[in-house]
Amino acid sequence: MCGIVAYVGHQEAYPIILKGLKRLEYRGYDSSGVALLDGDLNLYKKQGKVAELESFLDGQSLKASIGIGHTRWATHGEPSDRNAHPHLSASGRLAMIHNGIIENYAALKKDLSSRGYVFKSDTDTEVLLNFIDDILINNDCSLEEAVRIALKRVVGAYVIVLLDKENPDTLIAARKGSPLVIGIGENEHFLASDASPIVEYTRQVVYINDYELAIIKGDELILKNLGNEVITPFVQQLDLELAAIEKGGYDHFMLKEIHEQPQTIFDCLRGRLDMAKGEIVMAGVQQHIDQLMHANRIIIIACGTSWHAGLVAEYIIEELCRIPVEVEYASEFRYRNPIVNKGDVIFAISQSGETADTLVAIEKAKEQGALIFGVLNVVGSSIARISHAGAYTHAGPEIGVASTKAFTAQLVVLTMIALKIAKEKKSIPQERFIHLMAELNEVPGNVERILSDTSKIHKIALKHAAASSFLFLGRGYNFPVALEGALKLKEISYIHAEGYPAAEMKHGPIALVDDLLPVLFVATKDAYHEKVVSNMQEINARKGRLIAVVTEGDNTVEALTTDLIPVPETDELIAPILNVIPLQLLSYYIGVARGLDVDRPRNLAKSVTVE
Ligand code: F6R
Repeated sequence: MCGIVAYVGHQEAYPIILKGLKRLEYRGYDSSGVALLDGDLNLYKKQGKVAELESFLDGQSLKASIGIGHTRWATHGEPSDRNAHPHLSASGRLAMIHNGIIENYAALKKDLSSRGYVFKSDTDTEVLLNFIDDILINNDCSLEEAVRIALKRVVGAYVIVLLDKENPDTLIAARKGSPLVIGIGENEHFLASDASPIVEYTRQVVYINDYELAIIKGDELILKNLGNEVITPFVQQLDLELAAIEKGGYDHFMLKEIHEQPQTIFDCLRGRLDMAKGEIVMAGVQQHIDQLMHANRIIIIACGTSWHAGLVAEYIIEELCRIPVEVEYASEFRYRNPIVNKGDVIFAISQSGETADTLVAIEKAKEQGALIFGVLNVVGSSIARISHAGAYTHAGPEIGVASTKAFTAQLVVLTMIALKIAKEKKSIPQERFIHLMAELNEVPGNVERILSDTSKIHKIALKHAAASSFLFLGRGYNFPVALEGALKLKEISYIHAEGYPAAEMKHGPIALVDDLLPVLFVATKDAYHEKVVSNMQEINARKGRLIAVVTEGDNTVEALTTDLIPVPETDELIAPILNVIPLQLLSYYIGVARGLDVDRPRNLAKSVTVE
């Protein structure tokens, strides 16, 4: 949520910052801006996507070898030029970018206003900046000290980066709760919210921790804590290929990421599914196997698409491991004084590993003595760092704002974890364990088959692209798939969509059904199949426009609709991984048909680091 980039060194800062902002645009894109320091401190800001800023600055002389840039997802104040970052302090000395939220900004603002400060924007960022400026003016101290004093009084989450007219070769950065990576080049440093703007310049990076402050010149990086003690930076080698963050010939990142799924699922299974030995190798699970096997309860905490993966996992874990599972929205869990006991295990599912609600919710559960097990995609992310153990999904960087490949990788990892616990617990027969392993092993090939010809899904998408509302229905393992299908369509096409358990639709949503409403059933062969077909009959009787994801070769519902999307046959427990692929494609094609920016849908951001 909000992307920040900064540069100090011997190159032109602006092109590096601009390119970085384009890479980070998935984090927010309602406005963007840069500040460049070359004797004068110049700020350029524009409402809209980074391309707006770029064309606004086209042809201008933007010489500077130090600068900061920001792409925003609005929290305080509407998207506009004046609310865009960077902000300039009242004294004109400092410029600052910020990712996060300053919760006590109103009190700080009141105090500053009473002493004559006038604010040009509605942001909490400008308040923090002037608070720092004020400390600087009223105390005989360095900027570094002023930042330290200010941050001790600030409540909230932040990464901030400051440019100082009086120290034109130095950037000051600090973090609490939002991510910051520093790339170390030859007499130059690159700062960013993630490594994607850095990878083409250097592979040497330092991930800044909470409550750390960095003083950065071209040839020097000093790291301190808020107590002013120097910390030795832990320099890591970046494991990220440039190709992973480029579109590679696809029109959109979302389409690329959908098509990457055979590979990402394979990567997720690789080294874990030992078919020869009939074993699942997962060090994080093995390490805590006793606690997992004997858990009183597994509480799954997540948001959005990751929450849907958690719902599928609830069905799988209860079925295979016979352990009670509860799936919680992180944002609800964190505020409702939840009951967590020592024997409980928390699964935190998160693609980004930075989602603020999930992070705080698991911190709370950790304090209450639960084991925290992360199912995460981003190595070294904040949630990874506070989890006791976990398993990575290895889906690679997901840049399209709507989650696709991360979801299927989450399902694969969660299924393997459930299988491993079930095997140790002997809660399923060995033959079923082997059968499910074999079915998992087939998933990359089966996904490949679905993706090898998407023309039918495209045709169905075009037929329904003008709909104003959509219903997604499924039962059992496919109920969360229906929820995910509805979420994806909402995000990408702005069509109102709801997901429901198929039978539950009789208790209300059926009132919506008429001859204009597309109703998509996830109706692959499983224990509920006959019941789902009955539900389809009920919709058909009311002239709803039926679409169905069905098992290849199943002609049970041919009489009800021609809008059939066949997927390869698999065990019902594995089916969600295959069944969601056509729903991702359907949303994608409908979004494109409606002329929308599917990679950057309005109002959304990839990494939700505010609550
Ligand atoms: C939907 C989507 C979001 C995220 C949610 C949680 O396509 O991407 O619903 O799933 O914001 O994000 P993570 O998984 O990063 O915690």
